[in-house]
Amino acid sequence: MLNLHRILITGGAGFIGSQLTRFMVTKYPQYQFVNLDALTYAGNLENLREIEKTANYEFIKGDITDAVLLNELFSKYDFTAVLHCAAESHVDRSISDPLAFVRTNVLGTVNLLQAAKTHWWGKMDDKIFYHISTDEVYGSLGAEGLFTESTAYDPRSPYAASKASSDHFVRAYHHTYGLPVKLSNCSNNYGPYHFPEKLIPLCIHNIINRKPLPIYGKGENVRDWLYVEDHVRAIDVIFHQGKIGETYNIGGHNEWTNIALVKELCRQMDTKLGRQPGESEQLITFVKDRAGHDLRYAIDASKLYRELGWKPSLQFEEGLSRTIDWYLSNPEWLEHVTSGAYKGYYDKMYGDG
Ligand code: NAD
Ligand code: DAU
Repeated sequence: MLNLHRILITGGAGFIGSQLTRFMVTKYPQYQFVNLDALTYAGNLENLREIEKTANYEFIKGDITDAVLLNELFSKYDFTAVLHCAAESHVDRSISDPLAFVRTNVLGTVNLLQAAKTHWWGKMDDKIFYHISTDEVYGSLGAEGLFTESTAYDPRSPYAASKASSDHFVRAYHHTYGLPVKLSNCSNNYGPYHFPEKLIPLCIHNIINRKPLPIYGKGENVRDWLYVEDHVRAIDVIFHQGKIGETYNIGGHNEWTNIALVKELCRQMDTKLGRQPGESEQLITFVKDRAGHDLRYAIDASKLYRELGWKPSLQFEEGLSRTIDWYLSNPEWLEHVTSGAYKGYYDKMYGDG
C-alpha cells in the first residue's frame, strides 16, 4: 500500500502548480500538503486564496536551489511524495536569460532529487518523486507526426534544454539510486490564472485594452492546447496509478496555428464584450519571429488513454470560453499581475505598444 500522505508541491503558486494544489488539497483532505515556492514574478499567492486556510495545506516561501532549506524541510515534514512543478517556464525569457533556467530547472531539480534520495535512502518502496515536464523536450515537428514517449530528445530553446536536462537527471536518479520517479510531458496548457506573458492570456489582456496582438512571424506555428484542469486530472491519475520509472505524454489532441487561435479568441471576445464582429481582429499585428521558433508540437497521449483511462474533458472552444469568462470576471487579478514589473518586461519585449 502506497503511503502518499505528506506531499511536497514545488512551484504551487504558479499557473499549473496552483491549479494542481487547489485540486489536490480539496480532493484529498486526508493528505498533508506543503507548497514550496520562491514567489518569482510568476508565483502569486492570490492564486491560492480558495485554500490558503485549509487545514491540510501550508505555504513556505523558499527556493529549490537552496539545498540546506530542502534538507530541513524533508527532515521536518518527512515527505512521502514530491510533485515537482517549480520552474522557469517562459521560452522568450529563456532566450534573454538562459542561466536563470539552468539555475532553477536543472540545479533546482537536482537539489530536490538529492534531498529526496538522502531522506528516502533505504525506505524508497512507498515513495514517489513526480516530475512535471513539457513536450518541448522532443523538439519541433514538421507537418506530420506526433511526439510519443519514445521520441528522441531534441530540445531547441534554452528553456527546452533545461527541462530536457532535468528529465535526464530524474531518470538518472531512478536508474542509479532506485529513486521511485514518475514523469509526464505535457503540451501547451491554457486556463484561469495563466500569467499574461504567454500567448492566450497576453492576447486576452490586450483585446480587453484594445492593444496590438503580437503574432510572431506569420502565425503559422502550431501548438496542441490542453485545458489546465485536464492536465491536473492527468497528473492525479498518473500520481496514483502510473507505474514507477515510467513517462506519460499528456496532450489535448487539439492543434491550432497561432493565427487561427488568436482569431477564435477575437471572435469569442467580440461577442462577450459586445463589440462589432471583426473588431478585435484588427488588433492583430505581425511582429519579428521568436529566435529558433519551433514550428509544431503535437502529442500522442494514447499510452495515458490506454493504460490509465484518462482523456481530455473539454472541447477547445468551450475551454477558451471559460478562460475568457474567468479573465473578464477577475479584472483585479489581471490588474495586479500587470502593474509593476510586468510593464518593464512588456515594453522590452514588444516596445511601448
Ligand atoms: P509558472 O511559470 O506559471 O510557475 C512556476 C512557479 O515556480 C512559480 O510559482 C514560481 O514562483 C516558482 N518558481 C520558479 N523558480 C523557483 C525556484 N527556484 N524555487 C521555487 N519556486 C520557484 O509555470 P507553469 O506554466 O505553471 O509550469 C509549471 C510546470 O509545468 C513547469 O515545470 C513547466 O515546465 C511545466 N509545463 C508547463 C506547461 C505550460 O503550458 N505552462 C506545459 C507543460 C509543462
Ligand atoms: O508546449 C509546452 C510549453 O508551452 C510549456 O512547456 C511552456 O512552459 C509554455 O510557456 C508553452 O510554451 P510556448 O512557447 O509554446 O508558449 P507561448 O504561450 O509563449 O507561445 C505559444 C505560441 O505563440 C508560440 O508559437 C509563440 C507564439 N507567440 C507567443 C507570444 C508570447 C506569439 O506569436 N506572440 C506572443 O506574444
